Amino acid sequence: MKNILWLCPLLMMTVLTVVFMYFGFTLWSSLLIAALLICPVIILYGIVKALRRESPLEGMLPHTRGMPLNWAAPFYDWGCRKVGLGPRFRQETIRQAALRPGERVLDVGCGTGVLTRLAAEAVGTSGKAIGIDPAPKMIVTARKNASAERSNAEFRLAVIEDLPFEDNSFDCVLSSLMLHHLPPDLKLLGLGEVKRVLRPGGRLVLVDIGRPESRLWWVVVWPLLLWSFTKDQVSGRVSEYFEKAGFSKHERVGSWVKLLSFWFVFK
Ligand SMILES: C[S@@+](CC[C@H](N)C(=O)[O-])C[C@H]1O[C@@H](n2cnc3c(N)ncnc32)[C@H](O)[C@@H]1O
Repeated sequence: MKNILWLCPLLMMTVLTVVFMYFGFTLWSSLLIAALLICPVIILYGIVKALRRESPLEGMLPHTRGMPLNWAAPFYDWGCRKVGLGPRFRQETIRQAALRPGERVLDVGCGTGVLTRLAAEAVGTSGKAIGIDPAPKMIVTARKNASAERSNAEFRLAVIEDLPFEDNSFDCVLSSLMLHHLPPDLKLLGLGEVKRVLRPGGRLVLVDIGRPESRLWWVVVWPLLLWSFTKDQVSGRVSEYFEKAGFSKHERVGSWVKLLSFWFVFK
C-alpha cells in the first residue's frame, strides 16, 4: 500500500509536465491542472464520508441520568479483554445465570452485546435473548456483531429506568457491569423496572463492583467511595437496593478477581 502511495506524487508531476508541455502555461491549462488536483480530493472526501456514514440510530441518545458509553463502543470489547474481562469472565457470568433452553432473557445495559449473544446461544431457538442500551453506537455494534456471528440475539435502544416490555415477560434478567453507571435513585428505579418485567419466581443475575476482598484493591478503588454512583457498591450496600426494590430474596454467589460480586436476586 505504501509503495502505491509513493507513486501518487510521481504521477501528479508527470501529468503537470505533460499538460504544461502540451498546452503551455495558459489560463485553460491552469484550470485543467486545478481540476485534476481537486477531483481526487473530492472523490477521497466522498469515500471517507460514505465509510463513516452514521446509521439512523446514531444521534438518538435517549435521555437518562445514567452514564451511557456511546463514545467507547469502537474499542469497548478490546478494552475489556485488556483488563481481564474477556471470554473467561463472560463464560463465568453465563454459568452463574444457569440459563435453560426456551427461557426469555433480558440483558440490561448490554453494551456491545457479548453477554446477550452467549445468552441467546444458551436459550436456543425456542428461547429469546434481548439486549437494551441507551448508547446508539453500542446498539449498532451489538447488531453488527450478532449478524456476523449469525446470532439471533436482538438489540434495542432503551434505558433500564423505563423498560419497553410488558410485566412478567422474562425468566431471567442479566445486568453486567451496568449498575455503577447509575446514580443511587436511578439504581432503585431501574431495579424496580427489572422486577416488573420478571415473571414471578424469575431471577436477576447481576455482576458489578462490590466491596473489595483484598487490601490491595482498596488502595486502587478507595476514590470510588467519593462518587455517588459507586459509593454504596464499594462499601458493600448493594443488598439494600434489592430489598428496597421489593425483591423477595437475594444472595451473593461469588466474586471475580476479588473486586466484582455476582448476585442472584429473585422476584
Ligand atoms: C460498562 S458497560 C457494560 C456493558 C456490558 N453489559 C458488559 O458487560 O460489557 C455499561 C453499559 O451500561 C449502559 N448504560 C448507561 N446508562 C444506562 C441506563 N440508564 N440504562 C441502561 N443501560 C445504561 C452504558 O451505555 C454501557 O453500555
